[in-house]
Amino acid sequence: MNAELIEFKVIGDARGSLIAVEAMQQVPFDIKRVYYIFDTQEGVRRGFHAHIELQQVAICVRGSCRFKLEDGSEVREVLLDAPNKCLLLKGLIWREMFDFSDDCVLLVLASEHYDEADYIRDYDRFKELTNAV
Ligand code: TYD
Repeated sequence: MNAELIEFKVIGDARGSLIAVEAMQQVPFDIKRVYYIFDTQEGVRRGFHAHIELQQVAICVRGSCRFKLEDGSEVREVLLDAPNKCLLLKGLIWREMFDFSDDCVLLVLASEHYDEADYIRDYDRFKELTNAV
């Protein structure tokens, strides 16, 4: 599956911690968009889509949440529970996010501007596309 867990380097000193994230360095693409999900209500599941071209890196900069990921051959669950743990997603992957902690701030770095045409929101369509690969 084109999903990879990456650990960012924590630069810590007596004052606390800092993580630096640079395009084409820790993140293997030019970052064109940043968004963050927070104040997620209890029991909520989000996502329910795949992307055609978009590459993304997801980081729980605060709190935790889980991802359910599916490609043509595999289903995986990933826990993001530390600000130095990040999930790189490329290619056709169906994603659902759930189990958001109350304090969760899920930061996403994206390779492209927002484009609804890059979304596959219909699960049957996603299955058709992955079966065709
Ligand atoms: P949605 O795709 O439902 O979020 P997710 O699947 O990640 O839980 O997005 C919610 C709304 O926000 C929807 O109307 C589209 C809009 N949106 C933007 O305008 N820009 C963005 O970069 C994103 C990710 C969403």
